[in-house]
Amino acid sequence: MKDNSMLLSPFYGPLNLKNKVVMAPMTRSRATQDHIPTEIMTTYYGERAVSAGLIITEGTAPSANGVGYPRIPGMYNREQVSEWKKVTAAVHANHSKIFVQLMHTGRVSHPANIPEGSEIVAPSAIAPSTTKMYVDGEGELEIPIPKEMTTEDISQAINEFVTASKNAVEAGFDGVEIHGANGYLLDQFINPNTNQRTDEYGGSTENRARIVLEIVEKTIAAIGAEKVGIRFSPNGALNDVGPFENQKETFDYLTEKLNGLGLAYIHLVNHASMGAPSLPDDIRISIREKFKGILILSGGYDKDSAENDLQNEKGDLVAFGRPFIANPDLIERWKRDAGLNEPNMSLLYTPGAKGYINYPSL
Ligand SMILES: Cc1cc2nc3c(=O)[nH]c(=O)nc-3n(C[C@H](O)[C@H](O)[C@H](O)COP(=O)(O)O)c2cc1C
Repeated sequence: MKDNSMLLSPFYGPLNLKNKVVMAPMTRSRATQDHIPTEIMTTYYGERAVSAGLIITEGTAPSANGVGYPRIPGMYNREQVSEWKKVTAAVHANHSKIFVQLMHTGRVSHPANIPEGSEIVAPSAIAPSTTKMYVDGEGELEIPIPKEMTTEDISQAINEFVTASKNAVEAGFDGVEIHGANGYLLDQFINPNTNQRTDEYGGSTENRARIVLEIVEKTIAAIGAEKVGIRFSPNGALNDVGPFENQKETFDYLTEKLNGLGLAYIHLVNHASMGAPSLPDDIRISIREKFKGILILSGGYDKDSAENDLQNEKGDLVAFGRPFIANPDLIERWKRDAGLNEPNMSLLYTPGAKGYINYPSL
């Protein structure tokens, strides 16, 4: 790689990163069955911090209702906060920064996966049509119809994000990424296919965006605007949300409001490289024009395409997902033009160190 690479040169400004390489959020299901971070997670993130200027963690539940999947970590109890401290310390020791992705799964869940006393909630009582949910010991199961949230449930979910954000700061995180993408709770509200409410949280663009903006506003009030980012996947199809009619208008509205709130960053997902519909160019360009904060691009990048998009000012930072799975020393490999290890896809979500922290460095 050339020495004058934009990708590898520092990113100055409020985030102050050693380079413009972001590790994308990736669920790896290596927490305990009680959703507590583990020692191997500290090793995994600590090693990748040598390369990435900014790490965004795997989707992390802001509350017991938001857990959805087996063995994903949470940010809603003391033990989780205390174990996350080890992860953030390991990342900071290697001069990287780390945001936690707060992911409330909403209807993408299963009763067997959520802690006792919690419930599966969503904007409307509509189950995903094709998505199944993995349950340990049972395999892929049908997802039941979720409970339609009451106004109190919505206030509770908003507060859960705010409390989890405060917990995250206490755990040493540099900030939080609100998961507004990929068909999870907030995307379920944004999308009229999954939000058929007739109250102030459904119907018009303003109403479908309301919960997102309330969460962002309250989180910013609690921990500061420079510590809050959001992820969106316009035109995304993951978890059976699917495209809808006035998508551009919806994301334009959200962007204008988020810009007004001084949000640190918007992180855009393009899942075209994963065989899903692509992020429309007009939406990406419009967000870039309207949003004065940091724009993170993600989806199918290698070092050359990332460099190219940065040179063309399409975004400020580029996130890499799959390349980080099997390459703890990703940047060193790029610099030496060495080949990349291929991830073992059958071990993506399995418990233990194998397929997680046993990929070789150069
Ligand atoms: C194993 C795996 C787990 C993922 N988990 C998450 C997640 O928890 N949250 C999220 O927003 N995206 C998740 N993604 C999507 C990635 O963040 C990224 O957008 C996607 O992999 C495309 O980028 P890439 O081509 O660089 O891999 C996941 C992807 C993979 C491969």
